[in-house]
Amino acid sequence: MKRRLIAGNWKLNGSLAFNAALVAELRAGLQAAAPACRVAVCVPAPYLAQVGGLLAGSPIDLGAQDVSSQASGAFTGEVSAAMLRDFGVRYAIVGHSERRQYHGESDAVVAEKVRQSLAGGVTPIVCVGETLAQREAGQTEGVVKRQLAAVIHANGHCISEIVVAYEPVWAIGTGRTATPEQAQQVHALLRAQLKAATERAPAMTILYGGSMNAANAANLLSQPDIDGGLIGGASLKAPDFLAIIAAASRDGA
Ligand code: 13P
Repeated sequence: MKRRLIAGNWKLNGSLAFNAALVAELRAGLQAAAPACRVAVCVPAPYLAQVGGLLAGSPIDLGAQDVSSQASGAFTGEVSAAMLRDFGVRYAIVGHSERRQYHGESDAVVAEKVRQSLAGGVTPIVCVGETLAQREAGQTEGVVKRQLAAVIHANGHCISEIVVAYEPVWAIGTGRTATPEQAQQVHALLRAQLKAATERAPAMTILYGGSMNAANAANLLSQPDIDGGLIGGASLKAPDFLAIIAAASRDGA
């Protein structure tokens, strides 16, 4: 049976001291109650080595928040999938709405990053999601389908190796969560789109992200096509993140 995945996205937060304290608390919590789901933390690039060391021997996997669309060469400031792999990175978030919005990442760039990530042996967590204006204009389905189609088109049969994250932009960091029904509706669309591309779609992981917290996690996770969460703010507080992991470890995990 497919195990759920709970991934923390620390975004632009942390320090050597903060990271050490947070990971110690997470490790202690997971030692007391072993998770029945997969767990990962996606940390800022400079801390990959530190956090990788802190996670050794724990059930928590290491993740990055981005990956280059290039394998190597004259691309100042970029970090390749092979470099991430060197540091034991298992997952890389790709195409987060904050990167699409503030760094101009197009569907084509996101698709290329996914390709590089897979080639480098790092599982991409591919984010899709509509803005509030797009939702209100009835464009949600068109937007998320276009975003995922670019990734499917560029990656062919390898598409079954990705993780998808539905993150409605209006729910990120706003405290305004999609209802379980709203999220499920989009997850079902995404699953159907994946099914047309690969027979392995039912086994693929589709995460929900956007103000997911200890209080709403269980309801969101009860939906048939929600296979886990991509957690921002609540992943920076050990008790909250542990509570979400506990919810994901209950029935159906
Ligand atoms: P919040 O959980 O802070 O809303 O962030 C969600 C997110 O963007 C995870 O990638």
